[in-house]
Amino acid sequence: MNKERNFTPDIIVASPGRINFIGGHTDYNNGFVLPAAIDKKIKFEFCKNNTDHICNIYSKNYGKSLVVNLKQVKPSKENWENYILGVLHQLLKRSDRIKGFDCIITSELAIGSGLSSSAALECGFAFGINELFQLNISKLEIAKLSRDAEHEYVGTKCGIMDQYASVFGEKDKVLFLDCKSLEYELIPMNLNDYKILILNTNVEHNLSTSNYNQRREQCEQGVKIIKQKYPKVNSLRDVDLKTLKNVKNDLPELIYQRCLYIIQENERVQNAAQFLAKDDLNNFGKLLYECHEGLRYQYEISCAELDYLVDFSKDKEYVLGSRMMGGGFGGCTVNIVQSDHVDQYIKDISKAYHTKFNITLDAFLVTPSQGTHQEIVHAKKE
Ligand code: GLA
Repeated sequence: MNKERNFTPDIIVASPGRINFIGGHTDYNNGFVLPAAIDKKIKFEFCKNNTDHICNIYSKNYGKSLVVNLKQVKPSKENWENYILGVLHQLLKRSDRIKGFDCIITSELAIGSGLSSSAALECGFAFGINELFQLNISKLEIAKLSRDAEHEYVGTKCGIMDQYASVFGEKDKVLFLDCKSLEYELIPMNLNDYKILILNTNVEHNLSTSNYNQRREQCEQGVKIIKQKYPKVNSLRDVDLKTLKNVKNDLPELIYQRCLYIIQENERVQNAAQFLAKDDLNNFGKLLYECHEGLRYQYEISCAELDYLVDFSKDKEYVLGSRMMGGGFGGCTVNIVQSDHVDQYIKDISKAYHTKFNITLDAFLVTPSQGTHQEIVHAKKE
């Protein structure tokens, strides 16, 4: 399908990517995270096509179409298609009201960059179909079914953070989310004369999905061992430092380090939320550096390119904090940089990065923004 000409949408949906200030890999351990939706998004234009079960989906970025028969939804060999198909599969389990539709997707989010273009795609797509066919699925359910789609059709055993942030984000606010209870608090982000700078390494190392799933399994392995002495423990959220020390000898060293990182990170997120609420960006930034060290040495999901960017910033007093984001092994760093220095800093770090790795660095500013929402569509001409 290339219906760009003559395509008049019934509804338009915008679904943002996300940043996560702190709380790396804590979400699937029932822990705390501190993400925000951003002003970079995926746009979806939907219209019903008066068929019973044929859907035409066109990705402008890929220049590719996907035709889906709602009676035969199954995984595909094309990765991007699985995000769409996985969501359709989940929606069809919940409703029989979905009929044929056309959809055009346009993205401002680089794939695999750690800004969670995947959650934006899943949640925006689910949100749009929910609106188009009035399925009455709640926002929370949209986040959950999008996560389940990623587990089942894409194969990444992700947590709930990305989908939650993409759906529930608000302008100028950061979400302090408890991934156990799924309750959250919105903390205003007063940046004053600082900016949020994203640096994209433009590397995505192989095996990032399998390494991600492996980290999750290692944490689960830790829980299993701890549970033998402490039967009430169901996730690392239920384990404090003292308990972990008590079982240190029962845990393989590597598993101990993974668990230690998660427990310390949960503590950091809670402290970071307090600093942010007090507009104390200095101490907030220090925790971002600590988080990166933990991900680098204890959780071991960083890479040379990410470490280089974080290390480069360390002696610059105008950078308050820097750390890698997302699943790991590539993608972006998030940095808090004083406004006056942003332009020069981008020039310096881009040059140094290029000299070191012969890769072009992408740099852009983001602000906390509204979560997945419907945009106004002008009246259709009959
Ligand atoms: C990816 C996953 C999230 C989360 C982060 C790491 O973005 O999708 O669920 O685990 O990595 O914090």
